[in-house]
Amino acid sequence: MGSRPCRELLVAGLEKLEYRGYDSAGVSVVADGHIDSVRAVGNLSNLRAAVEATSNGGAVAVAERTATTGVAHTRWATHGRVTEENAHPHNDCSDRIHIVLNGIVENHADLRRTLEAEGHHFSSETDAEIVAHLIERHYRGDLTEAVRASFSELRGHYAFVALHADQPDLLVGARKECPLIAGIGDGETFLASAIPAFLAQTRQVMQIENGEIVTIDADGIRITDAEGTVVRREVEKVTWDEDAAEKGGYPTFMMKEIHEQPDAVAETIADRLPTDDDVDLSDVDLDDEYLRDVGRIVIVACGTSYHAGLVGRYAIEEWARVPVEMDIASEYRYRRPVIGEGDLVVGITQSGETADTLAAMRLARENGAKVLAITNVMGSQATRDADAVLFTRAGLEIGVAATKTFVAQVAAMYLLGLRLAELRQTLSPERLSELVVDLKGIPSKIEETIESVDARVRAIARSHYDQRFFLYLGRHIGLPVCLEGALKLKEISYIPTDAYAAGEMKHGPIAMLDTSTPVVCVATDSPVLEKVLSNIEEVRARGADTIAIATAGSGRVAEVADQTIEVPRSDWILQPILAIVPLQLLAYYIARLNEFNVDQPRNLAKTVTVE
Ligand code: F6R
Repeated sequence: MGSRPCRELLVAGLEKLEYRGYDSAGVSVVADGHIDSVRAVGNLSNLRAAVEATSNGGAVAVAERTATTGVAHTRWATHGRVTEENAHPHNDCSDRIHIVLNGIVENHADLRRTLEAEGHHFSSETDAEIVAHLIERHYRGDLTEAVRASFSELRGHYAFVALHADQPDLLVGARKECPLIAGIGDGETFLASAIPAFLAQTRQVMQIENGEIVTIDADGIRITDAEGTVVRREVEKVTWDEDAAEKGGYPTFMMKEIHEQPDAVAETIADRLPTDDDVDLSDVDLDDEYLRDVGRIVIVACGTSYHAGLVGRYAIEEWARVPVEMDIASEYRYRRPVIGEGDLVVGITQSGETADTLAAMRLARENGAKVLAITNVMGSQATRDADAVLFTRAGLEIGVAATKTFVAQVAAMYLLGLRLAELRQTLSPERLSELVVDLKGIPSKIEETIESVDARVRAIARSHYDQRFFLYLGRHIGLPVCLEGALKLKEISYIPTDAYAAGEMKHGPIAMLDTSTPVVCVATDSPVLEKVLSNIEEVRARGADTIAIATAGSGRVAEVADQTIEVPRSDWILQPILAIVPLQLLAYYIARLNEFNVDQPRNLAKTVTVE
């Protein structure tokens, strides 16, 4: 909002946020008491083309010359398909109010029903559109007050910004958990979900906190809490250079992406856990009867995705009691696997382009199995080759070492496991609900983990960064965490690592240990914790230096290990998604102390399309 024509500024701002991933986009601007809106499926060049086409159409050209207030959005489909109608901005019945929203409105179905009964007409399948109609219902000439009244009726996690044709020099935003930040320019003010969106225009920012409503107009910026009490907030100056801005202020993409993990998981589970006792995978094209009766699941993947599959195997077998086989795609495809009708093959691939995974999926399909792809990239080959797709919603990952896509894949596997258990009734309703609630809490626990372990992990990295070898030990769900932690260290630090099932130690590997070997033990809560504890004792008896990852409050681990890093408590089977965080950070700090380029390690490409 300001005095310059804003449409181009808005689209340029969206470009800066493209890395988050999206499938459609839109922009609305207000001028002469009229809102012009353009939306398009696909990337921003499609939106630009649509803007161009409408501008040439006549009516919009007038607004285009004068509009200095507007909102724009890139959408990643959650509620409703990828269509122009479902793209934001969304409007109310009178087309006088437009909104853009990030996040999820959990009580959208109830609100929609009430609003429809009152005569409101909806034009999209989204949860977001509710907000435009709610504001319409509460609007009495004051947009801020209408937003405040609407805000109090919404449940979920979201941030939104609203625009009203009758108040063209004003924007009102509200924040519940999802980020919202203001930028204060010279005679103009910005609201965005992340600083890079407006950094080219201003470096003066103001944080909007959880539960706050913000109004920007010609007088500047006014923040109030949900009750309307004015809140004072200092202006901060962003000192990032352009390179740092691209990395959101972090020194590397990998660190930025580690910090994006809470969001990656939150987005992936969002609308799929609509209540505390239900898992909704209706966006995945596999019917309930098929899933309920599936005889066997085979998971194929490579690298980090393979490790996510391993966690999934434990969860699915534990909860849904379906037999699960797991194989490395490059092995599976060459071993004449016994596969056919009645089998569900799950191909996990963040890029959706890994040649071996695609080949394994194709082989399974040719033999009559159904294939589900779990991928992060819309339109990727995996989505075209599979019968059904479960998208992770981690956003674009630039660092070569997979971090946020891994936790999103693990979250997707948990969703699949819970849905299977729900359909097969292999968990009591109480246990299912316990797990759903716990899974919903994982994003904030990842955030807590990143904060709480950082100093300790740094210190451990400093004392071990010049070691020649690291061993990782774990059992059960701890084992894939070890495999993934060891992979992270070797790929970005070039330090040899081995990851072993702890029970195998005595069958050979124990011979490698000496007093200089750091041994990372994943010892989070699990039915095999006792056994892991004896393995730690066994290793310490050889003088090796044990670093344990433990569940908070589990004092016994700290008694046996040399150093302990604690992660927050959650259901034991969900612990891998937290336990991996300190191991990612350990690999990261060791690589940085050795002055390696963590974003682009040698010999590695982000997408492996050759066989
Ligand atoms: C490691 C890493 C790789 C990938 C593997 C599979 O950090 O990123 O091991 O996991 O190349 O890639 P996708 O998941 O794209 O099939």
